[in-house]
Amino acid sequence: MNKAKRKAVIAGNWKMNKTPSEAKALLQEIIPVAEGAGCEVIACVPYVDLAVALETVEGTNVKIGAENCHWAESGAFTGEISTGMLKEMGVEYVVIGHSERRQYFGETDETVNKRTKAALAAGLKPIVCVGELLWERECDITEEVIARQIKLDLYDVSAEDAKKTIIAYEPVWAIGTGKTATADQAEEVCAFIRAELAKKYDEETAQAITIQYGGSMNDANAAELLSKENVDGGLIGGASLVAAKFGAIIDAATKG
Ligand code: 13P
Repeated sequence: MNKAKRKAVIAGNWKMNKTPSEAKALLQEIIPVAEGAGCEVIACVPYVDLAVALETVEGTNVKIGAENCHWAESGAFTGEISTGMLKEMGVEYVVIGHSERRQYFGETDETVNKRTKAALAAGLKPIVCVGELLWERECDITEEVIARQIKLDLYDVSAEDAKKTIIAYEPVWAIGTGKTATADQAEEVCAFIRAELAKKYDEETAQAITIQYGGSMNDANAAELLSKENVDGGLIGGASLVAAKFGAIIDAATKG
């Protein structure tokens, strides 16, 4: 079983939730439930929460990620944050190409690729999100959509860097809707992603890459999703804002 060799990663994506003081309080609840976890535990938080988040988790096994980054090192990009700024703070992970950014903020596969390469160059670990819209699934082009995203988003990313990258499969129709993909649907696409990675790189590289499922993952459905061979972890929105639920998902990943 290759799954056992891969790092299981449970990451919360807090989205636009929690002020700095609220972030500190939530992390103080998450730290004890994450203690001794048999998987990597990450909280990806709003930019303004990063400083307090890093301070709060110091000396614990909880890692901190950002929710986006710009591709340029510096310059006239009002409102943007560079990878160097994140790295200097001590941030380790960064979510890139989340469907909400693609839907509402004009993110394209080209900008996802630029951000991914910039993150890797700065020594950050990108969590690159891919996933199909409902009507794309209904038109039976899920695999085409995913294959295209993998090719474009990882264009010019070396095998060595790909191994530092986490791919999050997030079917857009399952995000925040309470409509989870079935474990079989999640496994089918995660296995397809791994096959595409093997075509792009090689089997060894594909087997080393952590692939997460995201979309209404919660304490009730996590165990079944995470039991699948190609589902190595989760990217969790709503349930990551409730320590007990997030803790239950961490437990499910630990049991794997
Ligand atoms: P929900 O878990 O709230 O559906 O969000 C999933 C997600 O978008 C994580 O990035």
